[in-house]
Amino acid sequence: MGSSLKYLYAIYGASGFGRGVMPLAREQLITENIQNYELVFIDDGENKQAVNGHQVYSFEAFLELEAADKYVAIAIANNRIREKLVQKVDLHNLKHWSVRAPTVTSMDEVQIGEGAILCNYVHFTSNIKIGKFFHANYFSYVAHDCIIGDYVTFAPGVKCNGNIHIEDHAYIGTGAVIKQGTSDKPLVIGKGAVVGMGAVVTKSVPPGVTVIGNPARMLEKK
Ligand SMILES: CC(C)(COP(=O)(O)OP(=O)(O)OC[C@H]1O[C@@H](n2cnc3c(N)ncnc32)[C@H](O)[C@@H]1OP(=O)(O)O)[C@@H](O)C(=O)NCCC(=O)NCCS
Repeated sequence: MGSSLKYLYAIYGASGFGRGVMPLAREQLITENIQNYELVFIDDGENKQAVNGHQVYSFEAFLELEAADKYVAIAIANNRIREKLVQKVDLHNLKHWSVRAPTVTSMDEVQIGEGAILCNYVHFTSNIKIGKFFHANYFSYVAHDCIIGDYVTFAPGVKCNGNIHIEDHAYIGTGAVIKQGTSDKPLVIGKGAVVGMGAVVTKSVPPGVTVIGNPARMLEKK
C-alpha cells in the first residue's frame, strides 16, 4: 500500500561535512514532527554500509528504493561538484531539502534560496538576499544588506560584514574577514573567487582569483 511507504530523507555526502550535517538533519526532522521516515546518507565513494548509525546508499541504489517521497540535502562543500549533484537530483525528480540548525538566527527580511545548509550558530542580520544551494558552516555570519549568489560556500567562522556582494560559486575559507562596503559601493567578491582561510579582505576581489593574507592579496600561480 502506497500510504505505508516511508519518506526518505538523505544527506548527500558522508565525508566530514556530511557527517557534521547529519545530526542537524536528525534534530530538524524531530522538531518538525515528521512521521514515518528514514534518514540516510548517499555517497558514491563510501564502502561502509552504515555511517554513524545511518545507512549509506550510492545514488543509483537510492533511486531504486521505494518511498512515498525522497528529499535530498547536498552536503558537499565543493560548489562545482554540488552543482553537478543538484542536476542529478533534478533529473530524477527528487526533492531538494534545506537543513537549518536550531541555533541559526535570522532577523528581518532574510531570503535564502532552496537547498541551503546552515550549521550551528550561523547568524543573519537584516535585509539579506542569498541564492540557491548556499552553505554556511558553523559560527559564520552575514550582516545587513548583503547579496549572495548561487552555490556560494562559507567554511566555518566567516565574517561577512554589511553591504557585501558575493557572486555565484565563490568559496570563502575558514575565519576570513570581509570588510563592509557601502550602499552605493558594495565590496564585491567576484564569481568563482576563492578567499583563503584567515584572509582579511579589504577590497573587492575579481572573479576567479584566489586571495590570501592580511590585507588579502592575490595568490600567484607558480
Ligand atoms: C588559499 C587556498 C585555497 C590555497 O590553496 P592551494 O592553491 O592548494 O595553495 P597551497 O597550499 O599550494 O599554498 C600556496 C602557498 O600559499 C600559502 N597559503 C595557502 N593558504 C594560505 C592562507 N590561507 N593564508 C596565507 N598563506 C596561505 C602556502 O603556505 C603556500 O606558500 P609557499 O608557496 O610559500 O609554500 C587554501 O590554502 C585555503 O586557504 N583554503 C581554505 C581552507 C578552508 O577554509 N577549509 C575549511 C574546511 S571546512
